[in-house]
Amino acid sequence: MTYDFRIEAADTATLYSDLAFAVQGLVTGESDAVANMANVAAVIFETLPDVNWVGFYRNIGGELVLGPFQGRPACIRIPFGTGVCGVAAETRKVQRVEDVHAFENHIACDSASNSEIVVPLIRDGELLGVLDIDSPKKGRFSEEDEAGCVKLGEILSGVL
Ligand code: SME
Repeated sequence: MTYDFRIEAADTATLYSDLAFAVQGLVTGESDAVANMANVAAVIFETLPDVNWVGFYRNIGGELVLGPFQGRPACIRIPFGTGVCGVAAETRKVQRVEDVHAFENHIACDSASNSEIVVPLIRDGELLGVLDIDSPKKGRFSEEDEAGCVKLGEILSGVL
């Protein structure tokens, strides 16, 4: 079987609704969380322009541990409250950072990253992990990107 999710859309809202459709298609009927995270990281990485890292950190006993991703090798363990991912995990709030170099205790995994969005993945009150997307462009992620990523997070929280 081949999967060909080449998504091209004229505007951001359409791009994210097509992406959400593709993500839903990839995870429907599959209960293996690693397989789902791997395919979803790949389709997001292939679809969103100007991103250099897309992946997951999982909440393993109150610590974030690297999960499936696309991009350069990254730091493996992140304590809650540390860096953009750790703050998203601790506060359970989306972190949309225009300039990661201005973010206190940002963890620089790839020096090419300049902006970042991190979405906490929560199911039934439990923090499963976070979805992390990095860009080499400062201010890459708009409010529309945030809304689109939150929708992706909602789909994912059901299948991780
Ligand atoms: N920059 C992140 C660490 C993870 S990497 O970007 C892949 C942070 O500060 O949490």
